[in-house]
Amino acid sequence: MKGPYRVIVVGMGKRGLHHASAFKASPRFQLVGVASRDQQRLSAAAAKLGDVRTTSDARAMTAELKPDVFCFCTPPAVRLPLIDLAIQSGAQLIAFEKPVAVTSAEGMAIKEKLQNAGVKAVVSHQHRYGDHYRKVKSIVDSGAIGKVHSVYGTATGWATHMLSHLVDYTCWFNDYAPGEWVMGQAAGRGKLTDSHASPDYVAGVVHFKNGVRGSYDCGAGAPDVADVPYWWRKCRIGAQGDEGFAEVHTGGGWRAVTRDGVQSGPGTMDYDHDMPPYVDEIADWLEDDAKPHPARFDRAYHGLEIVSALYRSVVEGGQIALPLTGGADEIAALKRKIPDRKVLLTLPESAKEYG
Ligand SMILES: NC(=O)c1ccc[n+]([C@@H]2O[C@H](COP(=O)([O-])OP(=O)(O)OC[C@H]3O[C@@H](n4cnc5c(N)ncnc54)[C@H](O)[C@@H]3O)[C@@H](O)[C@H]2O)c1
Repeated sequence: MKGPYRVIVVGMGKRGLHHASAFKASPRFQLVGVASRDQQRLSAAAAKLGDVRTTSDARAMTAELKPDVFCFCTPPAVRLPLIDLAIQSGAQLIAFEKPVAVTSAEGMAIKEKLQNAGVKAVVSHQHRYGDHYRKVKSIVDSGAIGKVHSVYGTATGWATHMLSHLVDYTCWFNDYAPGEWVMGQAAGRGKLTDSHASPDYVAGVVHFKNGVRGSYDCGAGAPDVADVPYWWRKCRIGAQGDEGFAEVHTGGGWRAVTRDGVQSGPGTMDYDHDMPPYVDEIADWLEDDAKPHPARFDRAYHGLEIVSALYRSVVEGGQIALPLTGGADEIAALKRKIPDRKVLLTLPESAKEYG
């Protein structure tokens, strides 16, 4: 299939506008329409995007414009109806925001629908395009930290915002070896009713089939990343090998100790920097099946399985085997399980979110 590819974007919040702007700026795409239920956001988008069709009726516009790429950027609980609409539209590829879903039940339904329809899909774990993320991956791949035995990810933001990012990039550092089992614990009920429904704090381990151990620490109890002042970007994501380590700080560059000594460099997460290559590789995949997108659905879906298994371990106790074999509503189960005790904070400044 040859471009330029016709794209529509549904949802004109922060990320919808990022996606629409990136598609609009690329000669490999033609942004043919944007939809939002919110008229103010639609007007703001039209002012920024220039000559593009706008509507509050995504369904009618989709039927009329028949996009090659259907993109949607909606809150985490809004997924399946838009997957259905995208598949009905005949689009070749669906691009949507992380997380894949909030529950494994919805994630599995999405997976089945995509498989049955034979539609490609990508999920926006685009931080990986940051130069500091790529640097860490290149150090790991060069062998400079020896044989990798552990990967790790921490974030002060809560899980439905941050955990799928941590899992995806650590899996990348571990060459996407599949997880075998997961065990976790959680605390704090405050964010269970948030638009990004999550326990206030979740921590746990993943055993990957290649023997590598993953550890995750996400939310109110996560450790500080002291050199990063911006609260949302206090994320430490790295790999440890038998000769050193390399890690990225989302808002503060990269660090490594390798057999060549101590090294560090700059970098911070930047949507303007990360979105162009993200959409460019969508076009690559549309043109050539042999160039699957690095942020393809299968990888993100495995990340959802890991997150869901962490939650199931909280609820059921013990280790949870992967892959998951049946869907569940893990958030409903966490609401029944997590004790009504105030979460203990690592950072005083986190009180503004978890107070
Ligand atoms: N990849 C990243 O770096 C990154 C960063 C921030 C947010 N996100 C994710 O992006 C998604 C959207 O976040 P945001 O910050 O853009 O949110 P937002 O609140 O700014 O925008 C959400 C948009 O969805 C629309 N919407 C809500 N319900 C809808 C429905 N039922 N049907 C159609 N449209 C609907 C809203 O009108 C709004 O325009 C979330 O899943 C979030 O986790 C990803």
